[in-house]
Amino acid sequence: MLEVKNLKKTFKKTVAVEDVDLYIEEGESVGLLGPNGAGKSTTISMISTLLPPTKGTIKYKGKDVLKNPDELRPILGVVPQDIAIYGELSAYANMKFFGKIYGLSGSQLEKKIQEILELVGLSDRQKDVVDTYSGGMKRRINIAVALMHNPEFLIMDEPTVGIDPQSRNYILNMVKRLNGEKGITILYTSHYMEEVEKLCDRVYIMDHGRIIASGTKEELKNILSNEETIVIEVAERKQAFTDLLVSQKGINQVAEEENNYQLIVSKGDQLLGEIFEQARQTNVKIKSIHIQTPTLEDVFLHLTGRKLRD
Ligand SMILES: Nc1ncnc2c1ncn2[C@@H]1O[C@H](COP(=O)(O)OP(=O)(O)O)[C@@H](O)[C@H]1O
Ligand SMILES: [Mg+2]
Repeated sequence: MLEVKNLKKTFKKTVAVEDVDLYIEEGESVGLLGPNGAGKSTTISMISTLLPPTKGTIKYKGKDVLKNPDELRPILGVVPQDIAIYGELSAYANMKFFGKIYGLSGSQLEKKIQEILELVGLSDRQKDVVDTYSGGMKRRINIAVALMHNPEFLIMDEPTVGIDPQSRNYILNMVKRLNGEKGITILYTSHYMEEVEKLCDRVYIMDHGRIIASGTKEELKNILSNEETIVIEVAERKQAFTDLLVSQKGINQVAEEENNYQLIVSKGDQLLGEIFEQARQTNVKIKSIHIQTPTLEDVFLHLTGRKLRD
């Protein structure tokens, strides 16, 4: 349905996106996962025709999107990373405003507004001014306005950043329903591995403007089929211990965070003895240590040597 080839965007000297190839089949829910600054927003701005690419092609159902932007726009919904609604208006007024832009009116418009408000769970607060909403509610109304014209393809740019866990769950379940029940094709951008893991069939992992891996979640985790993750919790991290871990044969990546070390190690290497010995040498107290099955986060760590949230 969507086919992007060789996409590139430069801003003066910054290469924001380079060599991006991706495709989305009708009805799929596809994740674009990467840390801040990876080039996710720039990529989707180009797909949604808001930003002209420096290079590359974008086709939707076989048609060149860059040459015929007016054909994609009516069937595309975009939920921008920054909330783009009128804070001084009520949710209802915002939806009415956007609905009219899309050419709805009268009872049809009214019905659509109530249907979407129900979907995003804001029916009872619709008359309240958006500025009085919580962060999570603002995010939900931001999604609501993108749904007013019944898009068949929805692009969401980090729609859960900076909100409470309850709102986040609400949004995630909603996205799942939009895809599963309403059959809307979704491109979901995030730097939260768990979200993409929960919502998406296929995933593109992006870093420094490039796609560094792609596939189904299972395919991506198979990248680590010969490796496993060891998580060590310590009383306090020490540089000397880190240095020993990094130089240890069989330990392929080391990430540190708070009181934890996360290691990607070759499977089958008996490393626990070495790790305890290194901790003893450097006077680091190990509080717990466990081996875990790889996650998409570990795939990112394996590929880049960094954690997704760095
Ligand atoms: N309008 C712009 N002008 C200059 N640089 C930009 C602009 N938009 C994005 N960038 C740069 O492009 C890179 C990718 O940004 P972005 O696409 O926003 O990443 P992400 O959405 O993954 O966080 C970053 O280095 C960012 O600073
Ligand atoms: Mg972004």
